[in-house]
Amino acid sequence: MEASSKFHVASAIIVALGFFFLTAAECRKPVSGTIEYSAINCRKHSALLTDFGAVGDGKTSNTKAFKAAVGHLSQLASDGGAQLIVPPGRWLTGSFNLTSHFTLFLHKDAVILGTQDESEWPHLPVLPSYGRGRDAPGGRFSSLVFGTNLTDVVITGNNGTIDGQGASWWAKFKQGHLTLTRPYMIEIMYSNQIQISNLTLVNSPSWFVHPIYSSNITIQGLTILAPVDSPNTDGIDPDSCSQTRIEDCYIVSGDDCIAVKSGWDEYGIKVGIPTEHLVIRRLTCISPDSATIALGSEMSGGIRDVRAEDITAIDTQSSVRIKTAVGRGAYVKDIYVRRMTLKTMKYVFWMTGSYGSHPDPSFDPKALPEITNINYKQVVAENVTYSARLDGVPNDPFKGICISNVTITLTEKPKKLQWNCTNVEGITSNVTPKACDLLPEKKEVVDCAFPEDRLAIEDVELVTCSASTPFFRGY
Ligand SMILES: *[C@@H]1O[C@H](CO)[C@@H](O)[C@H](O)[C@H]1NC(C)=O
Ligand SMILES: *[C@@H]1O[C@H](CO)[C@@H](O)[C@H](O)[C@H]1NC(C)=O
Ligand SMILES: *[C@@H]1O[C@H](CO)[C@@H](O)[C@H](O)[C@H]1NC(C)=O
Ligand SMILES: *[C@@H]1O[C@H](CO)[C@@H](O)[C@H](O)[C@H]1NC(C)=O
Ligand SMILES: *[C@@H]1O[C@H](CO)[C@@H](O)[C@H](O)[C@H]1NC(C)=O
Ligand SMILES: *[C@@H]1O[C@H](CO)[C@@H](O)[C@H](O)[C@H]1NC(C)=O
Ligand SMILES: *[C@@H]1O[C@H](CO)[C@@H](O)[C@H](O)[C@H]1NC(C)=O
Ligand SMILES: *[C@@H]1O[C@H](CO)[C@@H](O)[C@H](O)[C@H]1NC(C)=O
Repeated sequence: MEASSKFHVASAIIVALGFFFLTAAECRKPVSGTIEYSAINCRKHSALLTDFGAVGDGKTSNTKAFKAAVGHLSQLASDGGAQLIVPPGRWLTGSFNLTSHFTLFLHKDAVILGTQDESEWPHLPVLPSYGRGRDAPGGRFSSLVFGTNLTDVVITGNNGTIDGQGASWWAKFKQGHLTLTRPYMIEIMYSNQIQISNLTLVNSPSWFVHPIYSSNITIQGLTILAPVDSPNTDGIDPDSCSQTRIEDCYIVSGDDCIAVKSGWDEYGIKVGIPTEHLVIRRLTCISPDSATIALGSEMSGGIRDVRAEDITAIDTQSSVRIKTAVGRGAYVKDIYVRRMTLKTMKYVFWMTGSYGSHPDPSFDPKALPEITNINYKQVVAENVTYSARLDGVPNDPFKGICISNVTITLTEKPKKLQWNCTNVEGITSNVTPKACDLLPEKKEVVDCAFPEDRLAIEDVELVTCSASTPFFRGY
């Protein structure tokens, strides 16, 4: 209830702002033309989407305008790069591509709307580390905002909005009418130096933000909103990526708020690109049927060195969950979590070694995942139904689990067996309620590990960029 009412209030505000600024635009009243924002790099050249014939009435398709704008600005990549400013208005579009040394900037009252016209979504082949689409075996629709083989790309705004208008896609998915996998909202592939920040993203057709086979990624200040019953609306999915920093995000969604991935069974094992050196901090998540942060289930390229801290979850199914299965192979190791504040949770700790969900029957039953060195500390959880459900893989236990300084208070009707553990090994210290026998309480106080070093991505500094432009030029 809490989640959906918050969501409706947010939508109402967005709609109200949209009408107000449409009216302003129709009267051709210019608003202040200076924008300022923080980014990994500033650009020498600027253009407005309206310079390329775009119309912000919420009805006219601007797919061609985005294509013309990015095509034109890509020629400036080697001359200091360019920023494309999306002014106030409602800009309907199909999928469009980004270019290198490029910034897409959304004014606070700009709304990019994903079109419902399937012909405006090009088809792409399946991802090599997945081997098939998630919704249908064939190809997939390109994401609303797509980039591949790029360097130095910024997608930002003063909290402008991208609305995927996902409801029609969710209906097609539920009715089994899809022949291709649904588009994501933002996908960046084979790229380096990416920033996605200060935006509100609503109603993605499927996952919201999907960087894959990429490195050096800064994600900050995203508000991500989808109905809590919408299918597969994961918030942020770093997938076979290294050096990623995700901070100050607020996510309400129908699936995992963050899902860390690296490919699926034999396809992911073959591609073999891990997700590593990832930091997630100051995340707030609401997701009644999913995890705050999921590691997997597609983890066949490996997941290692993940640091999560200052995490808040409310009315969420679990906190930092491991999902894997026989056939996935690879590993999830060196996971560090500290300072979680959790309220109304089904599970605090949840690990699943029998997640199933295979791309096809050709997975290798001998490809066992190695799960080791998993650390949680400083957790306060209230109104919890199960403290922990920890199921490793038979003959392949999850090892090196360390849980310290955890206080869990239970709901009025808690489960009798609070810690249900099978095929796991590790220790606990200063944990209430008392853990299972497979995670014995240490006599001397133990403080589970958290790295003291910093990742290279944490030292990437942002600079202040600006652009001066009359927003309604060419209207
Ligand atoms: C995002 O907005 C906040 C508050 O307006 C600001 O402090 C921060 O620098 C911005 N970050 C980026 C990356 O633009
Ligand atoms: C990461 O990005 C920063 C600036 O955005 C750059 O200085 C640094 O060289 C990049 N690192 C790599 C490994 O590309
Ligand atoms: C974007 O790039 C991909 C890959 O190069 C291509 O297949 C697709 O058609 C492009 N999309 C648009 C809208 O031009
Ligand atoms: C993009 O990079 C990948 C990986 O390096 C490469 O296999 C692919 O051919 C590149 N695609 C394009 C369009 O350059
Ligand atoms: C951005 O907009 C969303 C939705 O309206 C709002 O909930 C959030 O507080 C805003 N963020 C900032 C930094 O203003
Ligand atoms: C235990 O966790 C609580 C809550 O996060 C924190 O305030 C306290 O400092 C922690 N104690 C130790 C010894 O780490
Ligand atoms: C506690 O959790 C239950 C579900 O187990 C929920 O119905 C109830 O509203 C929660 N109470 C509070 C005070 O949040
Ligand atoms: C404990 O977990 C096992 C394995 O997932 C499950 O089969 C069993 O039903 C659980 N027991 C209880 C009492 O919840």
